[in-house]
Parts: sequence; C-alpha cells; structure tokens
Amino acid sequence: MQTIESPESLQAEMLRLRSGGQRIGFVPTMGFLHEGHLSLMRLARAQCDHLVVSIYVNPLQFGPNEDLDRYPRDPEGDAAKCMSMGVDTLFLPETLYADGHSTTVSVSGLTAGLCGASRPGHFDGVTTVVARLFGLVQPHAAIFGEKDYQQLAVIRRMVRDLCLPVEIIGGELVRDEDGLALSSRNKFLDTESRARALSLRRTLLTMRDHPSREVSARLSAGRGVLEVDKVDYLEIVHPDTLTPLHEIDGPARALVAAWIGNTRLIDNLEL
Ligand code: PAF
Repeated sequence: MQTIESPESLQAEMLRLRSGGQRIGFVPTMGFLHEGHLSLMRLARAQCDHLVVSIYVNPLQFGPNEDLDRYPRDPEGDAAKCMSMGVDTLFLPETLYADGHSTTVSVSGLTAGLCGASRPGHFDGVTTVVARLFGLVQPHAAIFGEKDYQQLAVIRRMVRDLCLPVEIIGGELVRDEDGLALSSRNKFLDTESRARALSLRRTLLTMRDHPSREVSARLSAGRGVLEVDKVDYLEIVHPDTLTPLHEIDGPARALVAAWIGNTRLIDNLEL
C-alpha cells in the first residue's frame, strides 16, 4: 500500500494508472474506519484493479457549531485497516483545497429537506469535496454507504447533472450486533446513550411493520418509540426523489436523524 499526501502527486499517479489501463475504485472517507467503511472497500475491491481510499475530515461540510474539532481520528488504526483490506493507495492529505479555493458545487432540490434542512450548507461541503476528490482520483467507480442515504442520492444527482464519468455504487448500511447503524460518532455514546440510540432502529422497524398505508399513522407510531433528546426529522420519503409521501402505495424509505446528548445520529430503512 502506498500512502500519498499531496493532491498533485495523487493526481499524477492516478493518471499514470489510468493510462496503463487500470480500473480505479474509490472509497472516500473521513476516517475512524469501522466495518461499514470496510464493507465499501470490499465492494470496491471486487470492481476494480486499483483501490484508492481517502481519509480527510472535510471542514466545508461542518457548520460553525458542529463537531469538526472533536470528530474522532485514528490515523494509525485506519492505515492498518486499509492495509488489511488490500487498499493500493491511501490518500491522506493534510489539506485538500488550494489557496484561494473559491468554487462551490451545489445540488438544489434534493438537498432542501432532511439533513439539508437541519444542517444548512452541509451538502454543498460534501459535493464540493467529492467533486474535487473525483478530479484528483479520476475513479471509474466510487462507493458510498446507504447509511448516509441522502448523501448518496445527492452525489448520484451531481454525477448525472455534471456528466462525470464515474459509476456510483451504493453499499448497504452495516449494523452492529445490537442493531445500531455503524457510525464513527457511536464512539461518543456511553452505555445508557447507546441503549437509547437503539430506539432509532426500533422506530424505523415500527414504521415499516405498521399496517396503515397512511404515513401520518406510521410516523406517530414511530415517534412513540423514539427515546432521544431531540429529533431533527422522522420522515417517509420516495427513495429516489426524497419527497415526503402521504400514503404508501409503492417504494418508500423511512429516515430519521436525532440527538442523544450532543451526538447526532442518523438511520434509515426501506419500508
Ligand atoms: O460520508 C463521508 O464520510 C463524507 O461525507 C465524504 C463522502 C467522505 C465527504 O467528505
């Protein structure tokens, strides 16, 4: 495994590999890797000749009062995990943006609700960094987890709208044995908070299994199960357009974002 820190060197290396006919698979991450990330690497590995993983905690996608400063980091542990997954190139930039960086990539519509409503500017930060990473890595395929369901939809839309020559592959959400969706932020949960965090999954299952076609009935059943300090949203939406549904008569996905203390958690489930 080679580790590259400079964006320019990474791009030069990727161009060299591409011109040699290598198919490049890419898993962008913010580090503190867990089994969810490793499952994305496995998917990528099966699709490509050369696997690139980036680790960069992107300041642009954090709001002024969010957890950028305390976002968990474990560079040595992450490097060991990448090595064990057969990663070929680990991209570990200190900073990703050139001096005077002044371009924002912004997807409208899909970013208006859900996490876009509770985290203004978040998705502009995500699409800007992902577009820049795509420019550097020039991957044939890039893998994103369904845990960040809205993010995946937004990135697919960006790639479609900008005709970026990269295949976007969604990786299934991975859960811990107790059912909690894996997230780097789970590290902040003590035993009592973790027990309450499990109510996110129970809420989604309650909504999935509720017999009514009426979304409002399912939402109120779900709300009754949540044991959190604050709910950012609990919604049932169309899986592609992310528009809220009123009745369930076709594909639907339930999504939740909620706070336990000062930790924000998200989860989602196909209904
Ligand atoms: O999902 C993440 O970890 C981040 O949003 C991403 C895609 C690496 C961009 O910083």
